[in-house]
Amino acid sequence: MNDVNTAFTGSIPEDYDRYLGPMFFECCAGDLAERAAAHPARRVLETAAGTGILTRALRDRLPDGTHILATDLNADMLAHARGKFGADDDMRFEVADAQALPFDDQAFDLALCQFGIMFCTDKVQALAEAHRVLAPGGRLLFSVWNDLEDNTLPRTVNALLDEIFAGDAPAFLRVPFSYHEPERLRADLREAGFETVELTTLEGECRITAPRQAALGMVTGSPLRVEIEQRGDIDIDRVVEHVAGGIAAAFGDGYGRAPMRWTVIEAWRDTVERRS
Ligand SMILES: C[S@@+](CC[C@H](N)C(=O)[O-])C[C@H]1O[C@@H](n2cnc3c(N)ncnc32)[C@H](O)[C@@H]1O
Repeated sequence: MNDVNTAFTGSIPEDYDRYLGPMFFECCAGDLAERAAAHPARRVLETAAGTGILTRALRDRLPDGTHILATDLNADMLAHARGKFGADDDMRFEVADAQALPFDDQAFDLALCQFGIMFCTDKVQALAEAHRVLAPGGRLLFSVWNDLEDNTLPRTVNALLDEIFAGDAPAFLRVPFSYHEPERLRADLREAGFETVELTTLEGECRITAPRQAALGMVTGSPLRVEIEQRGDIDIDRVVEHVAGGIAAAFGDGYGRAPMRWTVIEAWRDTVERRS
C-alpha cells in the first residue's frame, strides 16, 4: 500500500475530526463503546485511535478504574485525541503501529480498532498482534466499512473525483472500503489465532450537515488531500468546489442523509491454548 494512504498528518486531523467525525464516525463509536461495555475488561487497548472519537466514547461508557491506552501510527492524530481529555480522565496515549505493538504479551483484556485495520499493509500481522497482547479469554472488537457501493456518500464522491480527474481519480478513497468480505475476515482472524469470531453487519445513515462541509471532510480531512496535492494537476479548492456541487445535486442543498453500511467483528482469544 502506498505510504500516502496512512498520512493522516498536518491539518488533516482537525478537518477529519470537525467534518468526518459527526458525519460518519461518532454514531459508529457509540455502538462500539456499547459493545465494549457489555463484558467487563480492566485493561483496554485501542489501536488506530485517530482523533479519539471512539476513545472519548469508551471513556464515557466504561466504568471508572478501566485503564485505557489509546494508540495510533500518527502523532498528529493522537495529539488531537489527547486534547479531548483532562488530567482526571486517567488516559494514556502512545504512538504505535498496530502491526508491531510495543506491548507485552497478554497485557490487555480488550483490544479495539474502529475503521483502522484497512490501512494496515499486513492485516493478518495486525490481527496477530492484537491476539498476542490479549490475555486468554480477552476480546478483540473492530469495525470495517463495507463495499463502496453500499456507502452512498463516498461512492458519490468517488464518482465526482473520477469526473474531475478525467477517469484517473486518486486511489485513496477505495482503501477504507477494501476489507470486508466475511470469508477473508474469518480466514485472516483464524490465521492470526482467533477461533471464536462473530461478524455483525450494521446499517445507518451518514449525516450531511451541508454539502460544502461534507466536501471539505471528504477531500481535506483524509490523506486524499496529500494525494491531490502531490499530483498537483488540479488545485485542491477546485476539487472541493466540484465535490460540494455534486453532493448538493445528489443529496440536496442543506441537511442530507445517505445510507452507510459497516461490519463489526468480535473475536475472542481462547482461554485454553490450542496445540498446533
Ligand atoms: C479512518 S481513521 C480512524 C480513526 C479512528 N479510529 C476513528 O474511528 O475516528 C484511520 C486511522 O488509522 C491510523 N493508522 C493507519 N495505519 C496505521 C497503523 N499501521 N497502525 C496504527 N494506526 C494506523 C491513521 O493514522 C488514522 O488515524
